[in-house]
Order: sequence, then C-alpha cells, then structure tokens
Amino acid sequence: MQSCPAGLQYAARESQRDLSHPYADVWTWACRSHAGFRTAVQPGGKREGKSGARHPRHLNRSGNDGTVTRFGWKAQNKSLVMFAGEAYNVEQGVSNELFPKERSAVPGCIFNGSAEDATNLLLNGGSTGTANEMSSDMINFALFMRLSAPPAPAPFTSSAQNGAKLFNTVGCALCHTPTLTTGPSRFTGMSNVSYNPYSDFALHHMGTGLADGIVQGGAGSDQFRTAPLWGVGQRLSFIHDGRTSDLLATICAHSSNGSEANAVINRSIRSVQVRYKMS
Ligand code: HEC
Repeated sequence: MQSCPAGLQYAARESQRDLSHPYADVWTWACRSHAGFRTAVQPGGKREGKSGARHPRHLNRSGNDGTVTRFGWKAQNKSLVMFAGEAYNVEQGVSNELFPKERSAVPGCIFNGSAEDATNLLLNGGSTGTANEMSSDMINFALFMRLSAPPAPAPFTSSAQNGAKLFNTVGCALCHTPTLTTGPSRFTGMSNVSYNPYSDFALHHMGTGLADGIVQGGAGSDQFRTAPLWGVGQRLSFIHDGRTSDLLATICAHSSNGSEANAVINRSIRSVQVRYKMS
C-alpha cells in the first residue's frame, strides 16, 4: 500500500493521542452504521445532486438499454438477479439459467450439461408449488437481497454530528452523497423514499494506488463506484480488495496519482491542521 500523506500521518498520530481531535469525530461518524440495502435506486435526476458540476462523474451503463448500472465495486451490474446468477456461477460454481455453463470447465469434468439451478415447474411431479419453491435459488437470493431491511443507525452522538459536518465541509460528501430518493418500485413502500447510502453510485478515477487492472463495462482499471458507507461500522475490511481494516488507511488510500479525491484529501489535511492548532 502507498504511504500516507504526511498531513494525514500527523492527523492519525494526534487523533490517537487526543480523542477531542477533529479527526476523532470523523472516525466516530464513519463508524456509525447507516441504512442498509434498498434496491429501488432510480438512476439519474435526483441522484446527481448539486455537486455534479464540481466533481466529474462517470456512470457505468447497461450495454442493452444505456441505463445506469449500480451494483458491484465498478457498478457493473444492472440487476440483482444478474448479480445473484453471476455470483452463483463464478463464486459458487453452480450453473444456472443465466449462466448455464460451468466456468473454466475442464474436459471430462463436466457432470451437468444443463443448468444446475433452474425454475422448478414440475415440483414433486406436479406443476404447482409456492412461488418460493418454484423459483430458482438464484431468484430467491435476489429477492432476499432486495427485501433485506437496512441496519438501524447507531445513536447520533454530538461527536458523530461534528464528524458529519466535517465530512460535508472537507468534501467527502461530494462523492459519498448522504441522501438520495428512490424511483418507482414494484415493492410496497420502496417508491419515492429517501434513504442514506452515502454514495452517488457513480464511477470515479481513484488513482494509481487503487487501480486493479480490471475493466468492467465502462469502468477502467482505476475507476470505482463510490463505496456506499451505510453499515460501514459493521464492515470488517475496507477498499475493493479488503486491504485494510483501518479507516485512516482507507482515507489515505483515496490519495494517489490521478485520483479525483486528491483535492478533498488535501483539504481535509489542511482543515485538520488548522482546527488542531486552534483547539
Ligand atoms: C472522488 C470521490 C470520493 C471522495 C471525494 C471520497 N471518497 Fe471515499 N470512496 C470513493 C470510492 C470510489 C471508494 C471505493 C474505493 C475502492 O474500493 O477502491 C471509496 C471508499 C471509501 C471508504 C471504504 C468503504 C468500503 O466499504 O470499503 C470509506 C470509509 C470512505 N471512502 C470514506 C471517505 C471519507 C471519510 C472521505 C473524505 C475525507 C472520502 N471517502 C472522500 C470515492 C470518494
């Protein structure tokens, strides 16, 4: 991992020594769990926010209809069904209706020529069953993700409130948009509601230090979707490759050659230094 800019090293040292240090508030704020997973995010329009003009945003788009895709580290997936099908095939090795063939199959080792997970039209020899029984596992996984409730936020202490202010003033919120509004959804109670993902769901160039050499859709090697910060207090590791469990190291990782976050990180260093000297 690249080294931390000197100003942030200073901030880290001071905030460990002194819990009233401004950065201690940012950590407290960032450790608050926010909302969880709502899927009716409507791309475009309200999502763009006022900051759109100040920070270049690139959106990953579906090759099929040109609409914005939003799931995955590079916002490479349009639909949770697609995500579930791909993960079932690629991560679990279970072929399914979306991805009916084994991945990297070795000749002679292919035991199922057809999809292993599929819609069950003839459950127990009949043609009926509950929707859940008749749906493939993949569809059931997608529904599970779609209908999972958000985690309840932790109490908003005064330290967390200070941290939230700093988060806005130094410019973290330019990418980690605090509040968005959902579009229409088929699911009860999910249409046109405010939620707090702390993400703009856009792609940003994050510099040579984070580049992973992977291209997905319109997202190049150093481009990543702003990681949503809801529930961040319950996460065990941060950054797309899980390289650290330390929030300071995570913020340092935002800063490297070519990163759109460099100005914000520099501003946050200055803000920390000024506030620390004044306190
Ligand atoms: C230019 C846009 C941008 C700005 C500004 C920005 N971030 Fe990020 N942030 C990202 C992106 C993109 C990622 C995902 C990077 C990756 O995984 O490689 C990320 C990841 C994170 C993560 C890790 C989340 C996880 O689940 O791994 C945290 C925490 C975070 N940012 C906090 C902050 C804070 C605090 C600030 C302000 C000091 C900030 N960010 C400023 C775009 C930004």
